[in-house]
Amino acid sequence: MARLTQLTTLITGGNSGIGYATAKKFKEEGAVVIITGRNAHAVAQAAEELDAVGLISDQADLSSLDGLVAALNVAESKLDAIFLNAGIATFAPFEQMTEAHYDEIMNVNVKGVLFTLQKLLPLLNNGGSIIFNTSVNATLGMPNSGVYAASKAALIALSRVLATELAPRQIRVNCISPGPVETPVYEKLGMDSEQIAGFSKLLSEKILLKRFAQAEEIAQLAVFLAGKESSFITGTEIVVDGGITVNAVLN
Ligand SMILES: NC(=O)c1ccc[n+]([C@@H]2O[C@H](COP(=O)([O-])OP(=O)(O)OC[C@H]3O[C@@H](n4cnc5c(N)ncnc54)[C@H](OP(=O)(O)O)[C@@H]3O)[C@@H](O)[C@H]2O)c1
Repeated sequence: MARLTQLTTLITGGNSGIGYATAKKFKEEGAVVIITGRNAHAVAQAAEELDAVGLISDQADLSSLDGLVAALNVAESKLDAIFLNAGIATFAPFEQMTEAHYDEIMNVNVKGVLFTLQKLLPLLNNGGSIIFNTSVNATLGMPNSGVYAASKAALIALSRVLATELAPRQIRVNCISPGPVETPVYEKLGMDSEQIAGFSKLLSEKILLKRFAQAEEIAQLAVFLAGKESSFITGTEIVVDGGITVNAVLN
């Protein structure tokens, strides 16, 4: 039986990677799906493929978020689940960190996510579910990942506060922290294909299951957290990482 029937869900960054795979699974589970993204062509194409509603919203731009809320209000949309998935990643050694690098990551991954949620909250039904897409990077201590790691740690901290603040409305708030997932994000890191292959090999060796996750393996958990099967789960972070965070001293 479909697990998200009669639920209206919104997925940020739904035109690519984990967001796209989740939108697909949500549709298969009977949900009404709204995807957002910043690239009009990519969002329109994904929305058509997914039979979803596609809305343009650059989460680094607060006025663009107002446009998103206005569009949802015009459609009289009420939401049952929000997957705050959109994010970016770039890495640099701490000594080479620049203000521009810091601002870019923090504007999208922290400020953008916070204000997306603040603006969507009045549209979220009581009893709804909020899911943040965070990362094992928040706790791994991976070299060169400082700003990105800090951005995801900020979301985990926020999710716990929100779980408390929103509990009176029976709204549940949780994080999914993936390990490495095969998505287009690695093509956006500023590395050439040889460097990506080397980085992927190095990471895969550290994962107990010796492979990256597929985006669908993250989407399956998002389905669980969006629906009633997880009705007593709030304020927590669920790690989906093939075992990369297990202490691998003897591995
Ligand atoms: N892949 C991994 O190994 C991994 C691991 C842990 C956590 N994550 C997290 O998973 C999430 C999804 O990443 P992914 O791997 O699926 O990468 P992806 O394929 O690059 O997808 C990221 C999505 O976010 C969108 N986005 C980026 N900046 C945006 C903005 N300012 N406003 C609106 N949308 C924006 C992207 O739009 P464009 O198409 O326009 O760029 C894209 O749709 C991210 O938060 C990432 O940090 C990924």
